[in-house]
Amino acid sequence: SSQAKLPKGGKKISDHLFGLFFEDINYAADGGLYAEMVQNRSFEYNPAERREWHPLSYWEYIATGFSYGRISVATDKPVHANNPHYVVLEVEHIYNSAGAVGLKNTGFDGMVIKKGDSYNFSVFGSLLSKEPVQVKLQLQNSKGDTIATGTLEINAAGWKRYETILTASAEADSAVLSVLAVSEGKLALDVVSLFPQKTFKNRTNGLRPDLAQLLADMHPGFIRFPGGCLAHGDGLGNMYRWKNTIGPIEQRVEQRNIWGYHQTAGLGYFEYFQFCEDIGARPLPVLPAAVSCQNSGGTWRIGGTGQRALPKNEMDDYIQEVLDLVEWANGPATSQWGAKRAAAGHPAPFNLQYIGIGNEDKITPEFTERFTMIYQAVKAKHPEITVVGTAGPFPDGEDFTKGWRLANQLGVPVMDEHYYKEPEWFISNQYRYDGYNRDSGAVYLGEYASWGNTMQNALAEAVYMTALERNGDVVKMASYAPLLAKQGFTQWKPDMIFFNNKTYYLTPNYYVQQMFTANQGDHYFDGVIVKDDKDSLLAGSCVYNSKSGDVIIKLANAGQAAKKVKIDISRFHTIFPGASLTSLQADTSAVNSFESPGNVRPETGIVNVAKKFDYTLTPATVVVIRVSTR
Ligand code: AHR
Repeated sequence: SSQAKLPKGGKKISDHLFGLFFEDINYAADGGLYAEMVQNRSFEYNPAERREWHPLSYWEYIATGFSYGRISVATDKPVHANNPHYVVLEVEHIYNSAGAVGLKNTGFDGMVIKKGDSYNFSVFGSLLSKEPVQVKLQLQNSKGDTIATGTLEINAAGWKRYETILTASAEADSAVLSVLAVSEGKLALDVVSLFPQKTFKNRTNGLRPDLAQLLADMHPGFIRFPGGCLAHGDGLGNMYRWKNTIGPIEQRVEQRNIWGYHQTAGLGYFEYFQFCEDIGARPLPVLPAAVSCQNSGGTWRIGGTGQRALPKNEMDDYIQEVLDLVEWANGPATSQWGAKRAAAGHPAPFNLQYIGIGNEDKITPEFTERFTMIYQAVKAKHPEITVVGTAGPFPDGEDFTKGWRLANQLGVPVMDEHYYKEPEWFISNQYRYDGYNRDSGAVYLGEYASWGNTMQNALAEAVYMTALERNGDVVKMASYAPLLAKQGFTQWKPDMIFFNNKTYYLTPNYYVQQMFTANQGDHYFDGVIVKDDKDSLLAGSCVYNSKSGDVIIKLANAGQAAKKVKIDISRFHTIFPGASLTSLQADTSAVNSFESPGNVRPETGIVNVAKKFDYTLTPATVVVIRVSTR
């Protein structure tokens, strides 16, 4: 067996050490990974999110060819109580066959349309007049040329979902969608949606395929979601409540996003779990610890109530909400919450193993009490679930010490550490986990990045990641943060992937992450790489992947001179001499951009290896050598 071939001296490490942190920040979800093209599809935008926003933001009323009518926003008979606003369109007069009255959506700064591609249009409609109303759908490019059309008839009183397909005859970078009544009458409209037919794995309500594929290509061991700060929001009323984000999209609860925009929850827990399954990553949902952001009461943003923590008499319900997530994810399709998963199209369990509780919380008495209650309840009811606690944002701060002390008292199995630091910090702190107590909880390095997206930053992160592998017995998981950032809509930098509606570019940091994430092992071997121990700019690690039987060597030279290392893999019984090599090399100041996306990128090839061999690293280089032993 593969295990029999494993040489002595290896240390068992986490086989899902490297994964992804997904937060809906920088328009990562709506307008980003979530493929919906209509912005404000449910007319729920409001001034509490942004002063200038209202239910008709990103919509325009249009009337053509001497026709006229009016639109208004109503709330009295919504499609669902969770989705209160909708539009009423009254068409008073259609002058001739060229006339139309309706509304136009400008998407997220326009819609990118591909020639020959089809788009699924859907809308909830309710006929408020006697005669059915004929509706024409149009995609128009920025010159006003129509590049796709469709028709519908709204023919029933009461909300009903209507759908049709639009196929594009030409491409456009900044198209708009018009929904136009071409016969007289009155109707109500809500949840106006346009999705490309091509989504990742062709899922309905799915993800933008190019961005999702980039994440899949990393082969992450896990995905943490939905944040970050987004998880607890910025006030108790703004917490991310998972139950609001499953089920039919018209029933989901939309809300203000802590980063200053709107979240439809169209990319919700069901879609996160589905995506994890689709790419073979463990889901790692993070739920709020029933306290507000930094335990502040959320008064630092619009709408904060000043309330710091859920009242005690609401804790039983809140704890039940956390426990219900386990039943929803893992319970049989016949269970109360498992049935909801099955109804959404996934009768099989999702195999949830981890639940994070809290994000960078201050370790106040309110937090301590509530975290303890939630932690103990999950542990008692679901001993099979590993709870991840939070150690706050600053590795040198007071909450960090308090957080770990609490974890040790309670026996919390994994603690989430976060830090954003200069690249030099990562170099000088690469020995951080060598001294960590192996008898307390393990670490999830849930958010980290050096401040920048240059090659120098990526090199510092690579050095650090070799140290994470060396400590893969105590560091169970690690994820760079944030992941995605939309051009022109970015609240936080640096990020791993920058995108716009049409394209993206990958940072040097992405490539380093990918090299480590796609090349994980389950045993770590010391003494394979012989180098000058005093040289902190030169680092290496050696892991063995018992599934593939590959020995994987990673080397990072963050210095300015070429460096030679000696590699001894003679402990592995069989060595195939032609090993695969991935190499990332660039000037330390090099960056990628929309204009030069390929400036820094890895090269792949074959390198000859032996039981003992020397390898010379050029300056500013990261390499992965993957040696087959079977
Ligand atoms: O990654 C961006 C933010 O940094 C996260 O939301 C938060 O957890 C951290 O402070």
